[in-house]
Amino acid sequence: MPPARPLLVFDSGVGGLSVLREIRTLLPHAPIVYAADSGGYPYGTKSPAEIAIRVPALLGRLTERYDPELIVIACNTASTIALDDVRAALDLPVVGTVPAIKPAAVLSKTRVIGVLGTKATIVQPYVDRLAAEFATDCTVIRHGSAELVDLAEATLRGAATSSDSYRRALDGLLHQPGGDRIDVVVLACTHFPLVEDRLAEAAPHALTFVDGNAGIARRTAWLARDVTWPEEPSEGIAVFTGDATAAEAYRAGLAGFGLTRIEKL
Ligand code: DGL
Repeated sequence: MPPARPLLVFDSGVGGLSVLREIRTLLPHAPIVYAADSGGYPYGTKSPAEIAIRVPALLGRLTERYDPELIVIACNTASTIALDDVRAALDLPVVGTVPAIKPAAVLSKTRVIGVLGTKATIVQPYVDRLAAEFATDCTVIRHGSAELVDLAEATLRGAATSSDSYRRALDGLLHQPGGDRIDVVVLACTHFPLVEDRLAEAAPHALTFVDGNAGIARRTAWLARDVTWPEEPSEGIAVFTGDATAAEAYRAGLAGFGLTRIEKL
């Protein structure tokens, strides 16, 4: 039998590791290639046009190099902007990541939901559609934070970060009109679940944080249900598009997610 093809998990940086964590729980032996577009990071402050050109082209190159079984775009910004283009360009299954507004609306008692994402994601029509379809009777308050994305990157490099910064990101939601009634916050950027404990600590009152990562993992496992995985876990690869020396700073953090080999695209 030919060796199993890898699952390709893609993000601008290390945020997709929060998705990989859930995939690993369901498919512990699946070979993984984790691709971080460090050369294009951050996506959240880029224009939709830049992302719509960059992401399909990059995933095309990665597909040629690694021949994956399927692709998981573990990035809300890239998915809300470029998912359809990627699907049109590549002849293999592509799982996207979209803000978990639907489960948040189910959980909210106050009917006021916060959506914390990147600046690019929170203004996407895709998010308007999710709010209109699944949170009709809720007020949906949005805030885009580039700082929080950087904090998650720093955390994975083992750097210390201050509670004030997390509080500032939450204030961006809670200080908007009606924001004091928010009880559920959608972590609409895959970087944010990596620092969820810090957000919870910095919150002025109890907040429930939700993300769609477990659902993405279930969808991935279902799409790959006919694959025979190796009997032992395989060595995970992390591939960076940017500076290889800078990638070294993530080595220990990546190893915690089973990614022990670092490559450069
Ligand atoms: N992790 C990404 C997301 O889910 C984007 C972070 C960034 O590059 O700004 O949106």
